[in-house]
Amino acid sequence: MSLLNAIETEAQPQIEAAGVRKRRRHVLDLDDFSQQEILEVLESAEGMSEVLHRDIKKVPALRGRVVVTLFYEASTRTRISFEEAGKILSADVINMSASGSSTEKGESLLNTGLTIQAMGVDIIVIRHPHSGAPYLLAQHLDRVGIINAGDGIHAHPTQALLDLYTVREKLGRLEGLKVVIVGDVLHSRVARSNIWGFTKMGAQVVLCGPSTLLPLDMLRPRGDDDENDPLASVQVETNLDRALEGADVVMALRLQAERQNGGFLPSMREYIRRWQVTEARLSRANPEALVMHPGPMNEGIEISSTLAHGGRSVIERQVTNGVAIRMALLYHLSAGGE
Ligand code: CP
Repeated sequence: MSLLNAIETEAQPQIEAAGVRKRRRHVLDLDDFSQQEILEVLESAEGMSEVLHRDIKKVPALRGRVVVTLFYEASTRTRISFEEAGKILSADVINMSASGSSTEKGESLLNTGLTIQAMGVDIIVIRHPHSGAPYLLAQHLDRVGIINAGDGIHAHPTQALLDLYTVREKLGRLEGLKVVIVGDVLHSRVARSNIWGFTKMGAQVVLCGPSTLLPLDMLRPRGDDDENDPLASVQVETNLDRALEGADVVMALRLQAERQNGGFLPSMREYIRRWQVTEARLSRANPEALVMHPGPMNEGIEISSTLAHGGRSVIERQVTNGVAIRMALLYHLSAGGE
């Protein structure tokens, strides 16, 4: 540990006690966010949302900053909303896909990151099919902030933050809510980050799906400090009707065919019959229950079309709020914390 790091580590409790938190350099997952920091991001996004409703959606907050979106996997919502967020804040945003870049000539992720850093970029927003890819960049790049826009089946923290924001906006609170996450939890980075986010904010998370698609290993009791372990409170239920009893939030997940080698489901017909979220099933939830989906949806598989586009769906609102949350995060990582 360098002398500077040692001094910072020693001084950190006093700095936090004085209400002056050290500026965050990276957003990799929500496991290292405190409840207070999540609240700060949500409150900051409220201000950003106001900018989104102006006639001229432009503020100079990030003028002179450069953001690169580095996407090794397909995306519509995350990529466009980061680009829009950066541009509204007056950052220069450069989009790069693996396809058409020197990745096709065999350049490694690390060398790609070092190359981008050498160009004086401030923030890299990365999506990658391999879990841990953003951590590799965060470990080796010392002059760039890294935002994880989804890594393999591991984490999607900005999606979880926009989900928290949407629920708080619609229901006015997060604490004490029953949040049911249904479907292919095993392959879902969205579910993993949402488990951290909702449990840290005091909600009760219930995971539901076929036992072959539930991450039972992750949820096995870890023993020594269950009281302070948010994951210890997560419940697992394979029966969707039982899971939905009294739910305040129902989040359907996409069945991720691209990450499955087969053998996870008895048949698609059986999956739809037992785990599709439908209007009839939703009658077991609270009357004001929100219907969510991170997108993209397989309508007619994990969620019925009528429910996806019905009065209780906040799916489009999630997309709108994604811009405000990503504005808040870009701001926090650059101008905001200084
Ligand atoms: N929810 C989400 O990450 O969507 P995209 O893959 O379209 O970015």
